[in-house]
Amino acid sequence: MIRYPSLEILVGGTVYRAPRGTRDILPQEQPYWRYVEQKATEICRLYGYERIDLPMFEDSQLFTRGVGEGTDIIEKEMYVFEDRGGNSLALRPEGTASVCRAYLEHGMHNRPQPVKLYYIGPAFRYERPQAGRYRQHGHFGCEAIGDADPALDAEVIDMAWQFFVSLGLGRFTIVLDSIGCRECRPAYLTVLKEHYSPHIDEVCADCKVRFEKNPMRLLDCRSPQCQTIADTAPKSIGYLCMECIEHYAEVKRYLSSLEIPFEENPRLVRGFDYYTRTVFEVQPQEGGSQSSLGGGGRYDLLVEELGGKPAPGIGFATGIERIILGLQQENIPVPILPGPQLFIAHLGDKAKDTALKLATDLRHNDISVIMATGGRSLKAQLRQANNLNIPKVAIIGDDEVKAGTVVLRDMATSQQETVPLEKLPELLG
Ligand code: HAM
Repeated sequence: MIRYPSLEILVGGTVYRAPRGTRDILPQEQPYWRYVEQKATEICRLYGYERIDLPMFEDSQLFTRGVGEGTDIIEKEMYVFEDRGGNSLALRPEGTASVCRAYLEHGMHNRPQPVKLYYIGPAFRYERPQAGRYRQHGHFGCEAIGDADPALDAEVIDMAWQFFVSLGLGRFTIVLDSIGCRECRPAYLTVLKEHYSPHIDEVCADCKVRFEKNPMRLLDCRSPQCQTIADTAPKSIGYLCMECIEHYAEVKRYLSSLEIPFEENPRLVRGFDYYTRTVFEVQPQEGGSQSSLGGGGRYDLLVEELGGKPAPGIGFATGIERIILGLQQENIPVPILPGPQLFIAHLGDKAKDTALKLATDLRHNDISVIMATGGRSLKAQLRQANNLNIPKVAIIGDDEVKAGTVVLRDMATSQQETVPLEKLPELLG
């Protein structure tokens, strides 16, 4: 494994480091990223999702309207900036609102419904960084838009489940809840406010605002004095309308028939206003809900909210760093990425010309090659090949140039043989 010394870049007395909450993904971590992305791509292929790549920033109003004004993500965590044209833009804090915007912008309601899309890329939230929580994190999400069938809810939850299983992760739980719809939500909000009214002087300053603007978010508060009040608050599940009760029952029936284990948690709080009916999270068995591996739910009103014709949707998303932490905690091996097959060492100017040409010829034959540069001694070149873990070295000196050969050295056994140049692709391929 290549180790990199910690370097500090000093420019005019300033030490430059990656901004707080962001990280460089170094070559030695890449196998984990490629593994997760490959499993994500594979699960999406199996469930019929097509890839969409979305802009890293959007009109900030898209998220304010979509995710919801009173949410922590919008009020505390979104990176909002004005560009040179005076437009208010935001680095995307998530992908669902962007996918719905793309669904509308490209007239995807004309395609067969539901439209199934997935995305992989960074998301940005101004959060307090800690293990598994970053200001820029890798986000994999999928969305199915245009169908309200509870079978689709079960399929999306099944897909999330199968994704984590396919990664080799074992210690996670699916937590499920239903939070109602446009019809039954108002009655629930009334009883929720009735519950909080006598305690309004005890709740934190943020919750006083939430009480007025967005009572559902009261349940989201992490401050201890508010949590005790939230613990005894009425649960949305007790106030569902008939359609929502039936929908939820169907989702659970499908999940049971698929043998997907789930726990119901009537306190499941998701940080977005767009959710209706089904919400779920994938939680690690150790670590609690603060560090969910993934989460999702139904958003039947979001497309409409963004100005389109009604198009119910459901999806989920997951954070790649958290998955990688889980893989490391569970000691799950990931495939090593193939490194260069051959190092070319050379002595003398003519040998260098031959080496350069040989490297190019071999690459045309799909063989990965590193050629020594910098005019080091043969010993230093071999040491470099060894440090780079390259299994074979082709050594070229004046004699080899004349004879049209190389000395091929096996780095594990130190055995060497002289082979004609034209034989190399066959020997290495
Ligand atoms: P979310 O629960 O906010 O949902 O984020 C999904 C996942 O992204 C989390 O479960 C977590 O693994 C990861 N994540 C979130 N914030 C961070 C962070 N600061 N650092 C590292 N990982 C993080 C959504 O984003 C919804 N858009 C999901 C969805 C899709 N609902 C319907 N469709």
